[in-house]
Amino acid sequence: MPTFRSLEDANVNGKRVLVRVDLNVPMQDGKVSDSTRIQEIVPTLVELADKGARVILLSHFDRPKRPDPKYSLRPVVPEIARLVKRPVGFAEDCIGPKAERAIAAMKDGDILCLENTRFHPGEEKNDEEFAAKLAALGDIFVDDAFSAAHREHASNSAIVTVSNLIAYPGRAMKSELDALARAFEHPRHPVTAIVGGAKVSTKLELLGHLLTKVETLIIGGAMANTFLVAQGKAVGKSLYESDLVAAARDIMAKAKSLGREAVLPVDAVVAKTLAAHVPTRVVSMDEVGATDMILDIGPRTVEHVVSVLARSKTLVWNGPFGAFEHEPFDNGTIEVAEAAAELTAAGKLISFAGGGDTVAALNLASVKHRITHVSTGGGAFLESLEGKTLPGVKVLIVPQTSPLPGE
Ligand code: 3PG
Ligand code: MG
Repeated sequence: MPTFRSLEDANVNGKRVLVRVDLNVPMQDGKVSDSTRIQEIVPTLVELADKGARVILLSHFDRPKRPDPKYSLRPVVPEIARLVKRPVGFAEDCIGPKAERAIAAMKDGDILCLENTRFHPGEEKNDEEFAAKLAALGDIFVDDAFSAAHREHASNSAIVTVSNLIAYPGRAMKSELDALARAFEHPRHPVTAIVGGAKVSTKLELLGHLLTKVETLIIGGAMANTFLVAQGKAVGKSLYESDLVAAARDIMAKAKSLGREAVLPVDAVVAKTLAAHVPTRVVSMDEVGATDMILDIGPRTVEHVVSVLARSKTLVWNGPFGAFEHEPFDNGTIEVAEAAAELTAAGKLISFAGGGDTVAALNLASVKHRITHVSTGGGAFLESLEGKTLPGVKVLIVPQTSPLPGE
């Protein structure tokens, strides 16, 4: 694992600490409707404030192209304040006089949230001039926004490269990096990956990379249909990607040549339409009718997946097995989630999961707290699983100077 600075070594007392956070949280009627991402950053914010830092929050919200009150971070501030149990200020811009005045008025231990960084086009362009203006507002940089680390933007990339700011991973970022290292750099073997979801097209790189890392790859979700077609199975009216059948065949061939086990569903829950509580049938993979849609894995597949987990020591999971938003097509995912949680709680499995749908499914199964590490990242988790060093992580790595001869 690359070397990162440790936040506890930072002397933050009286310093202006710029903290990149991900406040891109779901909102409903002007209020935060899911505060998971805010809860994750609380330890970092409280630790810095308690040590006398002047904590300045930088974040994007949604995807505005210009200043637009609809995308203001202001309505998020009360939720941050509630969770850190202290007042949190707000500045109506993230650079310029409004930001400068608000920061100049801060006292040690104060927390201030700056307005949406994406109100400036320089943010998404990773623009150096804009980044320098952000950097000038602080003395130290902390990134606690793993879920935005796959973006190479000014507030998490150029802000470090154009400035002399020393960059630290925050607590939440560090735990994401540690989890990835535990899963991929020095995992307990055998390692199993579950990759589900709708589309092979979004996960091709992921599948290819995972095959080099895991003993067993379990493929689920509608993307499994493309693999089944590649094996000559009939999938009826099920969703699949005809242009990726050849790629699916290549992945199976790669698995074989690497000596990895690739697991596909052996039975399915099918229906004529995708909606909640429609009539369903359980069929083997050879019995899918011409008008059937495969909407979940069947009981024999669940049993097989659970038996694979029982002989695994590490699990990496991205993507649900079925159309889990509609009952009863959440059953397969929930049963596997329960098994993973039980094995984890019994100390037999180290489990890592991430991605929006996966986290939603774990919540549905009420097992999230029993999984070893649930990533806050969607795209960031996926790209990490593809073996990439994320731009927002790259700038946190301490360069290794090679020892001089004789040292
Ligand atoms: C996210 O919600 O995935 C992150 O905050 C990144 O947002 P983006 O996809 O709009 O870049
Ligand atoms: Mg996104």
